[in-house]
Amino acid sequence: MAANRKNFELMGGHIEWYDSIGSTNDRACEIVRTEGAQAHGWIVGAEEQTEGRGRKGASWISEPGKGLTFSLVLSPLWEREHWGWLSLAAALAVCEGGLLPCGLAPLIKWPNDVLVEGRKICGILIETIADCAVIGIGLNVNERGFPPELEAVSMFQLLGVETGREPLMGAIRDKLMNLIHLEEPLIAEHAWDLLAWKDREVETASGERGRIRGFGENAELKVETPGRLITLSDPEGIRLVPPAR
Ligand code: BTN
Repeated sequence: MAANRKNFELMGGHIEWYDSIGSTNDRACEIVRTEGAQAHGWIVGAEEQTEGRGRKGASWISEPGKGLTFSLVLSPLWEREHWGWLSLAAALAVCEGGLLPCGLAPLIKWPNDVLVEGRKICGILIETIADCAVIGIGLNVNERGFPPELEAVSMFQLLGVETGREPLMGAIRDKLMNLIHLEEPLIAEHAWDLLAWKDREVETASGERGRIRGFGENAELKVETPGRLITLSDPEGIRLVPPAR
């Protein structure tokens, strides 16, 4: 554990790496409270989280020392009303920085889950605090398996070999720090290429069925139904309609 910690902290940049912590997002928010926008680019990571948090109050559980769990503080230059793009940018950073170079074929389930072969490999929790956003990333890396009900998968299960978590984190961090300097239409273009469920029928939370057509001004999802074009901003807003038998 201690060796792992040292490797991460030697990577350069401001990195706090814990053997065990409640939630890396909570610690990153604390840092923002004391450092403000100076904390842009700082990272808090951990071998183990005892109170890892997911979206909508869910918890995020990952096997100590196997997954990659870290939070990156950003002070984006984008107008605040466009920070919705951070979700897609973060998912893109995981795909383009981490998974595609390893030969995997990730897709982004809007707004920011990352799937491979239909199973979740990465979850992202974004929290805004003062002028900063905390991007919390949980990536399944060297886990041997998951309970079937989680419908999750790790890089190890797909590749058959372990992946070093330090270079992976560095590549994701560098990619995300670059992506947030792009104009939003470019993020949209990249994200559209990797978007899951594009050609499939989806159902909105209110029961309307349609097809995904693109993104709105703040990265909302546009779904075309027979009667109208719907703009969804609720992350839990769609599900895939199973193909008719
Ligand atoms: C989700 O899919 O619901 C989002 C999961 C986000 C988990 C990461 S792990 C690092 C960071 N710290 C947390 O407490 N949560 C995020």
